Amino acid sequence: MRIPQTVTELHGPRFTPDKFPPTDNIQLTDGHEAQGERIIVQGRVLDENGRPVPHTMVEIWQANAAGRYNLPRDTHDAPLDPHFRGTGRVFTDEDGGYRFITIKPGAYPWGNHENAWRPNHIHFSLFGPGYATRLVTQMYFPGDPLLALDPIYQCTADAQARERLIAAFDLAITEPNWALGYRFNIYLRGRHATPMEDEDGDHDH
Ligand SMILES: [Fe+2]
Repeated sequence: MRIPQTVTELHGPRFTPDKFPPTDNIQLTDGHEAQGERIIVQGRVLDENGRPVPHTMVEIWQANAAGRYNLPRDTHDAPLDPHFRGTGRVFTDEDGGYRFITIKPGAYPWGNHENAWRPNHIHFSLFGPGYATRLVTQMYFPGDPLLALDPIYQCTADAQARERLIAAFDLAITEPNWALGYRFNIYLRGRHATPMEDEDGDHDH
């Protein structure tokens, strides 16, 4: 069922590149490279019929290679990287495409239960035309042994839907002698929809 949007949902701040400058490289541009394994994360934002969704603001945030967030509340005993910002923002092109250059995030402990570690993951937020159209999810990496133990990943009950949260290694995105490439397509709705977090969910981990 499609819920009609009212004036409240359709007005307010618009997310456009002139107001929200894109930063597709989530390292700091201070002339130094961040520590860790350089990767390219690329994909498309698609609707329920596989049609591209252009002009969508895609933001990511993640831990550095050592598994530490550049946030005051992250007290994990792992080094901060002064050359790594840990956040990025792009807008999808006419083909729904987006691309980030980043560092593979490290796993980190999170105290949820005995010996609890989050798998390597990148947080994603997508904004359509306004606040009412925000979607939040997490992207994981193929073959991660922590996925089977992670309550956040496992809270998506449908096994097939869970797999849509795992990026695919892609040699076509990989750049020779430079960086491995991963493909992560995001389906907003429909049978192949990418599982999303609740609006009031815990985005900290
Ligand atoms: Fe996280």
